[in-house]
Amino acid sequence: MSLILIVDDVAAMRQQYAYDLKRLGGHETVTAADADEGLDVLAREPVDCVILDLEMPGRDGFAFLREHQQKGLTVPVIVYTGTGSYDRCVRAVKLGAYGFLAKEEPLERVVQEVDNALQWARLTREVKQLRRSVGHDSPLIGESTAMRALKEQIGRLAPIPSPVLILGESGSGKELVARLLHDESTRRHGPFVTVNCAALPDNLTESELFGHERGAFTGADRTRRGAFENAAHGTLFLDEVGELPVAAQAKLLRVLEANTITRIGAAREIAVDARVVAATNRDLDAEVAGSRFREDLLFRLNVHVLRVPPLRERLDDVPLLAEHLLTATCAKFGGHPKRFASEVIAQLTAHDWARNNVRELRNVIERLVIASDGDVITLAAMPALVDGRTASKAAAAPGRTAAPDNAAPGHTAAPLTLKESKTAAELQIILAALERNGWHITNTASELGLADHSSLLKIMRRHGLKR
Ligand SMILES: Nc1ncnc2c1ncn2[C@@H]1O[C@H](COP(=O)(O)OP(=O)(O)OP(=O)(O)O)[C@@H](O)[C@H]1O
Ligand SMILES: [Mg+2]
Repeated sequence: MSLILIVDDVAAMRQQYAYDLKRLGGHETVTAADADEGLDVLAREPVDCVILDLEMPGRDGFAFLREHQQKGLTVPVIVYTGTGSYDRCVRAVKLGAYGFLAKEEPLERVVQEVDNALQWARLTREVKQLRRSVGHDSPLIGESTAMRALKEQIGRLAPIPSPVLILGESGSGKELVARLLHDESTRRHGPFVTVNCAALPDNLTESELFGHERGAFTGADRTRRGAFENAAHGTLFLDEVGELPVAAQAKLLRVLEANTITRIGAAREIAVDARVVAATNRDLDAEVAGSRFREDLLFRLNVHVLRVPPLRERLDDVPLLAEHLLTATCAKFGGHPKRFASEVIAQLTAHDWARNNVRELRNVIERLVIASDGDVITLAAMPALVDGRTASKAAAAPGRTAAPDNAAPGHTAAPLTLKESKTAAELQIILAALERNGWHITNTASELGLADHSSLLKIMRRHGLKR
């Protein structure tokens, strides 16, 4: 259910639009009589789309658009005008309007335009989230028996509405599996909403999941939809579900049983239409035994379980994965495509990847790409594999040497000089920050506390990193 704000100084017009949007489009509406009231409503209510009259006495539609743009708001605005002046419409679009209509357009067209705008907003949100989640867009690579079995299970579970629990070690590909469950389901055109249960402060978890009404608690200055509502017609991915606070676990269980949610501070229940997929790298049975996870919730979630095997149990997949990750990394760094010498693949395949599975392989390959000058990555670059990790450990915990399982089999590395360690650590810090910020240079520079974006570009050039 979407909420549409109608801003028009003529009460009859507002009411007509509100009535027809409800009747023809099934939308909820709020109305405002002028630009200022409209901006107030926008700040207060979870508005999904605005319909705006350009001609209003006092501060008109253009003033509304300017302020909307200045605030960096992303809610789509559709403007309409009675004068039929094309120039005014163009001006509005330049000020960030999503689209325009003439007042005499049939209401069906208006509803259609609103639906398009809603779809656009949803896609924009999703693309943003996709860009943020690193490497999500890669398909699930692997032809080992274990991976084939997993893909087959995904195909079976994707179409059904029941919750699915994904278990697997860190970096093994749980998020990718959750995406695939969504992409192969009939909900694929709906949103895929991720909540990282480990990343939320305890006091905000329930609001994040279920939403809240304005004034529900101190600081709740506007009504907010929760993840369950945002995931309507789509999939709600509860990542690291093992970290969910126990109080929130109880609420989640009730939601899964009743299929309705109540925003915090609200009286009315809202039907839930989100498919729940949960993932954890914890042993939930042990969590239950230690009273950190509710047994009844586990029983609700573990009707369908997908186990993502650790990479060391499917080393057959390493060559394919390595090639795939190499192509992706070269494309990302914008350099020449490179390839592996066969001895490199052999050595990668002999490693046990016990620490971070495919993510660890991905990081090693990034380092290999950076460490190699030519088009072929040879064993000569391999010390970077081992030493890079040693260096990162040394940077995190000075004075400690890396654990023996860090070393690739058959390889002993010479210790790094201080300068080399510093370079490796800097590269890692920069890459991680770039990833976190979706390779947005200015944001990354400001997160790292650099003076400006050109300082960051300078460091990137030194490491051979390209946007
Ligand atoms: N089978 C695979 N094919 C291609 N890429 C993969 C595969 N498995 C994992 N990856 C990549 O490895 C990285 C880690 O995967 P993902 O984030 O899905 O792991 P995870 O199990 O969710 O890890 P964590 O427990 O740390 O959250 C991602 O960049 C992902 O794209
Ligand atoms: Mg994950």
